[in-house]
Amino acid sequence: MHVIIAGNCEDPGQESVKRIIKETRNNKVEFMYLELASLQSIRQFVEHFKAKNLSLHVLVNNAAVMLVPQRYTEDGFEEHFAVNYLGHFLLTHLLLDALRQSGSSDHNSRIVTLSSATHYIGELNLNDLQSRHSYSSHGAYAQCKLALVLFSYQLQQRLAVEGSYVISNVVDPGVVNTDLYRHTTWLFKLCKWLTSWLLFQTPSQGASTVIYAAVSPDLEGSGGFYLTNGQKTKSADVSYDEDLQKELWTRSCKLVGILETHDQAS
Ligand SMILES: NC(=O)c1ccc[n+]([C@@H]2O[C@H](COP(=O)([O-])OP(=O)(O)OC[C@H]3O[C@@H](n4cnc5c(N)ncnc54)[C@H](OP(=O)(O)O)[C@@H]3O)[C@@H](O)[C@H]2O)c1
Repeated sequence: MHVIIAGNCEDPGQESVKRIIKETRNNKVEFMYLELASLQSIRQFVEHFKAKNLSLHVLVNNAAVMLVPQRYTEDGFEEHFAVNYLGHFLLTHLLLDALRQSGSSDHNSRIVTLSSATHYIGELNLNDLQSRHSYSSHGAYAQCKLALVLFSYQLQQRLAVEGSYVISNVVDPGVVNTDLYRHTTWLFKLCKWLTSWLLFQTPSQGASTVIYAAVSPDLEGSGGFYLTNGQKTKSADVSYDEDLQKELWTRSCKLVGILETHDQAS
């Protein structure tokens, strides 16, 4: 199995590669540079990936920033929205052909998108997706996590309509002790430090539902689910709103500069 660790930091990426090779004795593991805050970087990454002529059976849309101050990317997008949502939206689109070609009827390719329980309180502000008029870091994080659920469901619907052997599911990994909390307040960090042994899962525990979504035979042919604790769970009511899913899809295509294929949208 060929594994690509994509990230915007070479050193920790290469460290992960070394660790995986050591633990699995699979030498086909590599790091590739991908800056999700840049549409150009995403396009370059996909070009480099395609030049390798590899199959693509699983895509995990994992990266995120959380509670960063109000900042805008080189493309003019609010950072949470850009890195966590739009970057993965474009990446997935550009890799869809590779996923389609790699899937088969008894072995579907899989797209696993990481959301969060925070999406339950998220609101999609269609009049101000980039939070220019009013900004709250919590609101921006929750909005993009809701956008990822809407995207994952709408993608599954489109894949099913076209009859491709690709499924899309969304995962909430639970509360996990990772660097995601680096932008929280010192008081939160103190509480986390004191209680993490009790309230937080380890990164390995947090990865379990992602791995389940990526490889479990239970999910063969089953897309369009919100998974947490290794189980299908109901996501926020608003995430099932198909009109909202389609509206977000159309807007996202425009924002990242790709053509929407209307035949799949019906
Ligand atoms: N931890 C939790 O409690 C929790 C709860 C619910 C959902 N989640 C979700 O789980 C996923 C994984 O988060 P985590 O907890 O493992 O956090 P994490 O340790 O901070 O991992 C996030 C990863 O995203 C990468 N990243 C950030 N900005 C990027 C960019 N512009 N381009 C490319 N890569 C970028 C980070 O790289 P650097 O470290 O180099 O910046 C890091 O490797 C996220 O989608 C998160 O929202 C986590």
